[in-house]
Amino acid sequence: MKMKYTAPLRGELSIPGDKSISHRSIMFGALANGTTEVTNFLTGADCLSTIACFRQMGIDISLEENSQGGHVLVHGKGLHGLSAPSAILDAGNSGTTVRLLSGILAGQAFDSTITGDASIQKRPMKRIMTPLLAMNADVSSLNGNGCAPLLIRGKKLRGTHYNSPVASAQVKSCVLLAGLYADGITSVTEPAVSRNHSELMLRYFGADLRTGEEAKDQAHSKAAVSGGFTVSISPEPVLTGQKVRVPGDISSAAYFIAAALLVPGSELLLKNVGINPTRDGMLRVCQAMGADITLLNEDHSGAEPCADLLVRSSDLKAVEIGGSLIPTLIDELPILAVLAAFADGTTVIRDASELRVKESDRIAVMTENLTRIGCPVEAAADGMIITGGQPLHGAVIDPHKDHRIAMSFAVAALACAGETEILDADCVKISYPRFYQDLATLCG
Ligand code: S3P
Repeated sequence: MKMKYTAPLRGELSIPGDKSISHRSIMFGALANGTTEVTNFLTGADCLSTIACFRQMGIDISLEENSQGGHVLVHGKGLHGLSAPSAILDAGNSGTTVRLLSGILAGQAFDSTITGDASIQKRPMKRIMTPLLAMNADVSSLNGNGCAPLLIRGKKLRGTHYNSPVASAQVKSCVLLAGLYADGITSVTEPAVSRNHSELMLRYFGADLRTGEEAKDQAHSKAAVSGGFTVSISPEPVLTGQKVRVPGDISSAAYFIAAALLVPGSELLLKNVGINPTRDGMLRVCQAMGADITLLNEDHSGAEPCADLLVRSSDLKAVEIGGSLIPTLIDELPILAVLAAFADGTTVIRDASELRVKESDRIAVMTENLTRIGCPVEAAADGMIITGGQPLHGAVIDPHKDHRIAMSFAVAALACAGETEILDADCVKISYPRFYQDLATLCG
């Protein structure tokens, strides 16, 4: 894919459905009694992997695409309605599918194996194996390297408390889902709040889920939960199918926000964007950088807050990004690094070592490609130091098949002199199949 400097971006765009919420709508819908109807479902490859896994376990799921995104009907069979898959479950490129599904599989009355593509087979799974083993699960890494393929022998699970060393919604959600099949309360404490879509949607489906002080009171080991943020769940709830309207994905909106900010004279209206406070860190950082972003028509999609975002091109200045803000913008750090490359001054990103274990090592891959476009950047163990405001030029970009890196540099290309070529550009299908078409439409 070749991209180059563009005219101002103008017009409006409906942002495709949130990836995290789309996954959960299938999973929770499958475990509920009755039908769950999902609108604005994201039809990216990751969410299709989740659908394929549940179909393999006997869940009838229909999917149609219309102007509202994906329209899905999940015919749930209740908490104990899954059947043993006849083949290995394939999560493709999707970490959310492997990690959340493992929590569900651990408590089934059958054995299963789950794996995914080459990238998934390198991503750390000990982070979910450790709490699952503490819950009496039988989970092993078939290659003995702490990665997928995972062999999961279904067991009756033990309710326990887990102090997670990382603020990870995938770890938290895995533990909570295993907790549905435990013999008592299960609770998890994380060091900073990660995205809370599982909590909101599990409650909406009827689970008895507590947060904050109430959760701490329920947790097994009071001593274990003195700091951090705690969630608890009661086992064996009756979940009931619901209507879920998925808000637009702020992680996808992020590329258009950045494009509008960077290309002078731009003005974009991004419709129906999820602004859950556990996900909106990018907006706060952009505003601190001097971005002109206005929230309009604030509303709710079920339990999830959403709004339209009006974005106008802005002169940006450098900023420091770290601490508890990181989990609220973890997937937006590649595009924030691009914004930093065009901002005046030196931006420091710290406390983000999680970037090293995403779809690619995003610190290494961002550093490599920012250097290619002429941006002075230094990689750190847990972040990057980016000197912005130098003249930047197009280059050949290798996103290492990471969708978020490809989209970040497609946006950078709009503000770089000359032409940029993005290798393996179709990796964007993981989270945003229509990305290049939508960008082209707005570029006029
Ligand atoms: C996700 C959680 C985050 C995020 C990922 C989706 C989820 O991962 O990076 O894209 O849907 O729960 P971690 O839990 O590893 O932080």
